[in-house]
Amino acid sequence: MAEINALSGEQSGQNRLVYSSTWIQAQQQLIAWGQQLGLRVTVDRYGTVYLDLVGREFPGQIIATGSHMDTVRQGGDYDGLYGVIGGLEAIANLAKRFGQPKKTLRLIAFSEEEGSRFPATFTGSKHYARLPVTETINDDQGLSFAVARAQAVAQLVKDGVVFELPQLPETFTELHIEQGPRLFDQKIDIGLVESIVGQKRYTVVVKGQANHAGTTPMVDRADALQTAVMLIHYLQEQRRRFSEQLTLTVGAFAVLPNTANVIPGRVQFTVDCRSSDAIELTSYGRLVENLAQVETNPRISIEISQWTETAVTELDSMLLTEHQKLADKLGFSWCKLASGAGHDSQIMAQVARTTMIFVPSVGGISHAPAEYTPTADLERGLALLTASLYEQAYG
Ligand code: GLV
Ligand code: MN
Ligand code: MN
Ligand code: MN
Repeated sequence: MAEINALSGEQSGQNRLVYSSTWIQAQQQLIAWGQQLGLRVTVDRYGTVYLDLVGREFPGQIIATGSHMDTVRQGGDYDGLYGVIGGLEAIANLAKRFGQPKKTLRLIAFSEEEGSRFPATFTGSKHYARLPVTETINDDQGLSFAVARAQAVAQLVKDGVVFELPQLPETFTELHIEQGPRLFDQKIDIGLVESIVGQKRYTVVVKGQANHAGTTPMVDRADALQTAVMLIHYLQEQRRRFSEQLTLTVGAFAVLPNTANVIPGRVQFTVDCRSSDAIELTSYGRLVENLAQVETNPRISIEISQWTETAVTELDSMLLTEHQKLADKLGFSWCKLASGAGHDSQIMAQVARTTMIFVPSVGGISHAPAEYTPTADLERGLALLTASLYEQAYG
């Protein structure tokens, strides 16, 4: 699956942005594998793929696992894909060893979680969870979400594929790399996730006046870049007033016209802030929302729009306790932790009992081509997931 990216001719790392050609190929490959394994294949209108090993006694009671198929730009091999392939492998292994389960086992490959193509996050799991998703958004090439979605999903719905939004599961277990240094640094096999940070994302547009670099007097300038730099500095300074777990990232930044001899007329940048303390996140969010009131050049206008808001989410404590016991039985070391990364699980937790299993990330690196987890660690996570799915669907 990770090799599909090589076909894309894009830059280094994984580039499976939602509804792109690499994303379509990957979902098609997953569907083909599901069909080869004799699983029931469903696709919904957002392009999320569901592979069901239908239960014998309680087919309507669903035990789900999975993660997202999309990646960030120049992402790693494991974020999202580990939970998808690991989930498929767990279900295939169980089917081979034990045959049909009592309850239905479902693998889910959510269409999108990262928000790296369109200004919206978790659209796949939100759609499945029956939560509202804004479709009136464009990517940076001006292509609309609705058009890109329809064109891509049409390529997934083939013979033998059911096209519907399937019913919600009883439980959802997401297998994922930690994407942080804790397990790796402390040499712990497994992380059991208690909670996921809340996050807010914004786009800030700073508008000035493009003009000649040599002839415009310094005092008459409306330099959008100069103001943007001031605003980012202000955000960084303000962040220091909060705890260290309040994170701030300006990850995308665009200058227009981006030419040496023109005063920048327009700058656009993103602000991503997160915390596991809801009060802290709300108050920092207010600072971002009030950026237009910061004193800057009066010739400049500043617009702020928010496009992501997720609450601090507690995951299911009973499933976590079950996973502690299973990890002990399997002889794995484990710890409880909070996730600083966003996950589909925080959406699924609103509609189903939800839990996450983390394995270490070497050097804590993620969202980058250097993301890496050795096979032995991947296998421990897979073994715990398999044991959990067995207890839940066969027990
Ligand atoms: C998604 O991976 C996020 O946490 O940004
Ligand atoms: Mn990610
Ligand atoms: Mn992920
Ligand atoms: Mn993520």
